[in-house]
Amino acid sequence: MSTTAIYEIAPDLFRLSIYVPDFDMQFNHFLVRDEEPLLFHAGLKGMFPALREAVAKIIDPTKLRHIAWSHFESDEIGALNDWLQVAPQAQPVCTLVGKLVSVDDFSIRPARGMTPEDVLATGKYRYRFYRSPHIPHGWDAGVLFEETRKTLFCSDLFHHFGNVEPVTTSDLIGPTRKAMQQLEQGSLAGYMPYTRQTEGVLRSLADLKPETLAVMHGSSYCGKCDSLLMGLAAVIKETFDH
Ligand SMILES: [Fe+2]
Ligand SMILES: [Fe+2]
Repeated sequence: MSTTAIYEIAPDLFRLSIYVPDFDMQFNHFLVRDEEPLLFHAGLKGMFPALREAVAKIIDPTKLRHIAWSHFESDEIGALNDWLQVAPQAQPVCTLVGKLVSVDDFSIRPARGMTPEDVLATGKYRYRFYRSPHIPHGWDAGVLFEETRKTLFCSDLFHHFGNVEPVTTSDLIGPTRKAMQQLEQGSLAGYMPYTRQTEGVLRSLADLKPETLAVMHGSSYCGKCDSLLMGLAAVIKETFDH
């Protein structure tokens, strides 16, 4: 495991990236600095010491207030309880389904289970959680949208390989297609279903007109994200509709 690369991809939005050479994959965690700081992706348990050190270069980790993620899986939530122990005022934030199905049993403190009607205000920034069942995977999946700067925290969507640059304005569709096709050849095949809902969910995310995509595995993207989200729907269909 390499050291954590910290990069401010937009004002107050820090990308904390740990590259794992064995998988040729980055694991990215996003810290938003605000009156109530928010971390998106608690990260793997094994990455917690490195991540805590990285967070401490930006804010006092004991002051974290919100730990959010997309779906119940170790790279998203593994270190949740470690964060909750370090930061006594921090609360888990996920979809209502995530809270009801898994998190309140797993977590040492109950989660805030959000629906799209709820707004999480942290000071300068305002977040909504949109359900995206089985996109990228998991019944409980959702994406977090920060409305002030129009940042979409999109988890495994647009995942791609390599120790790539923190942020890009180049099209992510090519690297994403390549990564999906590669994973579909190996033991992790079937990790993302294509259903009749897929295109509609991605279209509703495109309608939010995000300006930044905070990507968990690979480069984040700055630019017009709506066409990219529709391009992703086409690639998911192409790769998984069989
Ligand atoms: Fe995942
Ligand atoms: Fe992931």
